[in-house]
Order: sequence, then structure tokens, then C-alpha cells
Amino acid sequence: MNLETVPAPPPCSLADAVLEELWFGDDDPQRSSLEASQSLASAVADATGLKSFPAVAQRVLALLAEPDVQLSKVQEAMEADPSLASQLLRLANSAAFRPRRPYSSLEQAIVRLGTRQVSDLVAGVATLGLFRETGGIGPRVRDHSVGVAAIARVLATQARDPAVGVAFLAGLLHDVGKLLSLQVAEMPYEALPDELLEAPDRVHVEERVRLGYDHAVLGAHVLQKWNMDSLLTQVVAWHHQPVRAYEAGGDVAKVVAYLRVANRAEYLLARDEKPDDAIFESFAKDAANSWLDHSADVYRALWPELNDARQDLLAALG
Ligand SMILES: [Fe+2]
Ligand SMILES: [Fe+2]
Repeated sequence: MNLETVPAPPPCSLADAVLEELWFGDDDPQRSSLEASQSLASAVADATGLKSFPAVAQRVLALLAEPDVQLSKVQEAMEADPSLASQLLRLANSAAFRPRRPYSSLEQAIVRLGTRQVSDLVAGVATLGLFRETGGIGPRVRDHSVGVAAIARVLATQARDPAVGVAFLAGLLHDVGKLLSLQVAEMPYEALPDELLEAPDRVHVEERVRLGYDHAVLGAHVLQKWNMDSLLTQVVAWHHQPVRAYEAGGDVAKVVAYLRVANRAEYLLARDEKPDDAIFESFAKDAANSWLDHSADVYRALWPELNDARQDLLAALG
């Protein structure tokens, strides 16, 4: 079909917002992105019509972004949503954040964690909270996301990477597109076999065939609509396009690499699988590892820590 015969996208602000550089590409990228943007736009409009980003979290994030914000104001705003406030305190006190002494109040946690870290936690907790009721494979996707966040955080912390907050948040939100698709029943995930659902780099291929886009691109568009950090949005968009991400280099490549190692490790840990030498070797040989540069022995030694971090965060957030 000639490009000119493709009808114009329906009037929808999201169709205009579709960023071509987020797409996974095709023989004819221009046409594929145009067609995909139409179905994507309607899917996103449906999904975001159901839920919008929570007002309290939005206000808290806006306050935290102000230079010289009074922390008492942040605390006051957060207390308007007791569930958000208590989750944040529980999370800050979890072993994942290793507080030297437990935080007894929200204010104390905000002061010690700092505005950047609190922003990341609020954004992550509020977004996952939107999908608390999502049925089907929703609870599995949420637990997987929490596990990936914990593992990505360990990997970035170990590399002393200042992007540790983005790595954590990217873990929490990387598969948010699956939760959206579930909510609007766009994708019959239940019909897919477990070995496909719980393996890295499989489901998105199925989504592209059935929907014309995948959960990575869908999730990224929603995060962008919610004005989330642009590095985070790009990482989520490209977490199943590693070649593009690694070619781009910089923080995008590094955080995509943490995310992909964490994603694979999480599926193994969730199945309580004890990796053998061949698996640790394969982690070391994976393209993602050129950004981490660990040997198979380092992965083997790290494994218990990744497991503990996953369990701790699941206990705090799962
Ligand atoms: Fe994914
Ligand atoms: Fe994932």
C-alpha cells in the first residue's frame, strides 16, 4: 500500500505525541509507525481514560521538583493519601534501602532519603498502585516489576552509577505497558503459555504480531504523557530493543543493560532456579554485560545478594 493511501490518524492528542524514535522499526519505518500510532493512540486513550496519574502523587512530585521546597509541605501533601504515605515509609524502612536506624516518621524518611530518591519512590509506588486491582496475570507482572527494580538497584549501586534511581524506577515501571494492555483487555495474555509469559524477550514479539506495537512502546508513551523523566521514558521504550539502546550509548544504554540483566535474573529467581555455571557464563557473555563488565564468577557471587534484594522489596511492596 502506498503511504498516501493510508488514512490520517483520528484526531487524538496522543497520536500527535507519538515519537517515531521510540518505535521498533520495520522495512518501511515511516508506514509502520503511522499505522502503529493509530492503534497505539486509541489503546493509550482507552487505558488512560480509565485511570489518570493520582492527584496526590502529582502534587507531591511537583513540590519535590521545586528548588528549596519545604519538606513539611511535602509531608503534608503526602499525608492526603495515607496509603501512599504508609507505603513510602514501609519502603524506606525496608532492607532494600538499608536505613541505619528505622525512620519513625515520614518527615525523617524524606530528609534522609533526599528529594530525588523520594520522587522516584513516589512515582513508582503511585504508578503500580494504579494497577493494584488489575486481575489476570496482573499480580505476576507487578511482582516481577518489583523484583526487577530491586535487582537493577543492586547492579547500579554496585557500579556506583548515579543513575541508580532511574534504574530502580525503570525496573518498577518497565512492564507498565503490559498492565495497561491487561486493563483494557487489548492482549489475551492468559492464552499465552507460561514458558512464554515468564521468559525474557518473548511476550513483546507476540504483542507486535497481534497488536502492531509492544508493551515497551505503549508504557513509554504513557509515562511520557504523565511527564515522567525523559531518560526513564527512553529506557522503558527500548528495553526490548537493546541494539538501539546500546548504539545510543550513555545513560540510556547503561540503564537498559541493568534492566535486561535484572529482568533475566528475576525470572530465574522467581522460579527458584539455581543457575548452573553455563547460566552464569551466559550472563557474562550477554551484550548487556559489556556495560557491567562482570565475569561469570562475579555473577555467581552476586546471586545471593540479588535474591535477598528481591525478597526484601517484595516484602515491602509486593
Ligand atoms: Fe518487557
Ligand atoms: Fe520484564
